[in-house]
Parts: sequence; C-alpha cells; structure tokens
Amino acid sequence: MPPLRPGLILVALAALLALGTALWLERARRTDLPAVASDQIVIGGPFRMTDHTGRRVTDADFKGRPMLLYFGYTFCPDVCPTELATMIAALKALGAEGAAVRPVFATIDPARDTVGHLAQYVALFSPDLIGLTGTPEDAAAMAAAYRVYYAKREEAGAPPDSYLMDHSSFLYLVGADGRFRTVFRGGEGPEALANALRAELRT
Ligand code: NI
Repeated sequence: MPPLRPGLILVALAALLALGTALWLERARRTDLPAVASDQIVIGGPFRMTDHTGRRVTDADFKGRPMLLYFGYTFCPDVCPTELATMIAALKALGAEGAAVRPVFATIDPARDTVGHLAQYVALFSPDLIGLTGTPEDAAAMAAAYRVYYAKREEAGAPPDSYLMDHSSFLYLVGADGRFRTVFRGGEGPEALANALRAELRT
C-alpha cells in the first residue's frame, strides 16, 4: 500500500468497516448467536487458482494444515514484501508450530503476476511460500471471498504496466479444516505476529 492520501483513507476505512462487519458476523456464527441463523461462511470459502508451479489448485488442496494467507501483488514496492517477510519470520520463530502452518500469497494483480513471475517472487521469501494467481475471475473471486479491498491506481502519463494497486493488508488464518479462523492486522512486526499466532494456534 502506498503512502496514504485522503481518498485512500476513506476507501481504507470503508474496507475496514466491511471487514469488521464480516468478522462480527463470522464471530456471531461461530458462537451460535441468533444474529446469524444460517451456517453461511462469511469470510473465506471455496476458491480455484493456479499455484506458482502452474498447478491448478482449489481450497480443498490446502486442507489438512492451517494456512496463513496474504493478498497482494509482486510489483508492490513496500507493504507486500514487508508483510511477507514478517509472515515468514513469525512462522520461523514459532518453530515446529510455525512449520505446520502453510504460508500463502494470493495475488490481486493476476494480469502481471504470471506463474513464472510469482515463482521467482515467492522464492525470495521462503521455499515454503506458495504463490497463487489465476484468471482475473479466479483472483477476483478469491479476493472477494476474503473481503479484500483493492483498486488499480493509474498515474496520468505513466507506462501502462507500471501501475500500483491500492489494497487492504491483513493476514488471514485458515484452519486445517479449511474454515476461516481469524485475521491479523498488517504492520505489526514478526514478534507480535508470532505471539498472536501462537495464542490462536493453541486454542
Ligand atoms: Ni502491497
């Protein structure tokens, strides 16, 4: 995410509000409060993508181990690389508990994040990091399922492929059963994330 501008702050607040509402609904569902009568999954759910090795995958392929999921794009100048490094460092700090968690990076910019490009990018962070891309429809559907806010930001006069993407920055923990567990705010640093993850993984 680039430096904040007034317009961006507004959309970020709107995104936060939407996510907050979704989280509240999810919590209500999990604790069986009467507010949500159905067992509808509010965050997460099925997806179809292509991983950084070119294999078509679905959410079913990720069951059996918890997943720590981040949405962003490889051309991101600052926030995405920082968060991915934080994710990997936090999992490493958790030792065996962290090694059980699968780190996943899903793109919100599939037009530029090709399989080959993604493969080079994830390797910069960890051999365990899985990159996900796909058709524009695949990527949009997955981001929508996780309530990710993103928008293309084109500067007048800039080359067409040099655009930035504004996007929300959260880390999603998905259980080994494939169900959304909780979300961590970005920008916290590896130690805070490791502590929050440890607490969540032990509940
Ligand atoms: Ni980013």
